[in-house]
Amino acid sequence: KTIYVLNGPNLNLLGKRQPQIYGHETLDDVQRLCADACAKGVTIRMLQSNYEGQIVDWVHEAREDGCGIVINPAALTHTSIAILDALNTVEGPVIEVHISQVHKREPFRHHSYVSHRSDGVIAGLGTEGYAAAVRRICQLIHVET
Ligand code: DQA
Repeated sequence: KTIYVLNGPNLNLLGKRQPQIYGHETLDDVQRLCADACAKGVTIRMLQSNYEGQIVDWVHEAREDGCGIVINPAALTHTSIAILDALNTVEGPVIEVHISQVHKREPFRHHSYVSHRSDGVIAGLGTEGYAAAVRRICQLIHVET
C-alpha cells in the first residue's frame, strides 16, 4: 500500500523559503516525518513539482496505485480547478495540508478549490501536519500505526 504525498510549487525550497512562515525543516525532513507516521506495510511516495500538469498526472497515478493522498498544492490550492477535478476521480482518502495557517494570512489564501474534495484539511501545524495527515489516512484505510 502506498500513500502519495504530493507537494506543489516552491515547496522544493522548503527550509530556505520564508522560514519565518514555513519553518526550517526541508522536504527531506517531511519525508522522514511521513515515513515514521506510516503504519506497517504502508509506504510513502513523496513528490514535488512546480507544474500543475505534473501534479494532475501524479493524482492519476495515485488513483491507480495509491491507497490515499496527502496533498499540499501550495499556491495551486487557490487557483487549480484541474487539480480539484483530478482529485474528484480518486476513490481513496484525500487529506489537504498547509504548513502555515492560511486563514490568518492574506484573503486570497482563504479559499481552496481542493477543499471541495478533501476529507480533511490541516493548516498551521507546521510540517507536523503531514504526519497527522498520514496517520489519518492509515486510520481511514484501517491499518494500525
Ligand atoms: C501553503 C500555503 C499557500 O497559500 C502557499 O501558496 C504555499 C504553501 C502552506 O503550506 O502553508 O506555497 O500551501
